[in-house]
Amino acid sequence: MTEHVKVEIAAGVMTLTLQRPEKKNALTGAMYNAMSQALKQAETDPAVRVVLFQGDGDSFTAGNDLADFASQARGESEVDSPAHRFIETISKVGKPLVAAVQGNAVGVGTTMLLHCDLVYLAENARLITPFVNLALVPEAASSWLLPLRIGHARAYAMFALGEPMDAQGALASGLANAVVPQADLRQRAHDVAIALTRRPAGSLGMTKKLMREQQRIAAQIAEEGVLFKERLATPEAREAFAAFAERRQPDFTKLSA
Ligand code: COA
Repeated sequence: MTEHVKVEIAAGVMTLTLQRPEKKNALTGAMYNAMSQALKQAETDPAVRVVLFQGDGDSFTAGNDLADFASQARGESEVDSPAHRFIETISKVGKPLVAAVQGNAVGVGTTMLLHCDLVYLAENARLITPFVNLALVPEAASSWLLPLRIGHARAYAMFALGEPMDAQGALASGLANAVVPQADLRQRAHDVAIALTRRPAGSLGMTKKLMREQQRIAAQIAEEGVLFKERLATPEAREAFAAFAERRQPDFTKLSA
């Protein structure tokens, strides 16, 4: 157990549970590092055949901790961030990844789902990618993978307007496998994880590899990463983070590109 991320291995399933519900499971550097470390362990540990992500409380995750973004924007902390390393790590995992999502899945909470192989949503799940509202750009290869999965128009509305995608919409557009009552969510995701542990691991690994354009994904992550870093240092981004901290709407109108 690392602070705010519980790691359990049982019956071939590594379960990663986000445990910072008082902050809607917003992800700190320590939490990203804990998840990256667990995923690296999962890749080499024969006791792990499947990884399952879930979050405690009413939200899957509110995405990157905005106080961390703000301190990166002020140049006070490392921008080659644990977040970027987590994104690189999850994008390369060969073992099956399953996610159980309730409530809000914001930013990386949604983009990481594009790297999961099976996604189960509670009826109240909402996928939100408000990168432009934060004066940032999409990450985790989502600028390529999301339009690929749901089409340009819907992806653009999610990125540029921050339009949430509800659970039924996500199911209909192919971002999820099923929508279930919240009370059944964890059991459903766990059952399917167990089913995967009984499949031949070699065949699963090759199937996943064949289904993902790994080089293209890595190139997109790298390109996004450069722009994301640049964006974090802009007055627009500083205004966005200050507005969140001050619980007000940002005003970008006096700032030019
Ligand atoms: N980073 C840091 N703290 C966060 C956070 C984040 N991404 N998201 C929520 N929190 C904190 C809030 O500041 C609040 O803390 P406080 O109780 O100490 O004031 C607490 O979590 C509860 O959040 P609150 O906004 O009151 O909950 P809500 O149910 O009204 O709204 C969200 C939930 C997720 C819609 C809203 O918190 C939100 O929009 N968060 C920002 C999401 C975001 O932009 N993430 C980055 C994506 S790249």
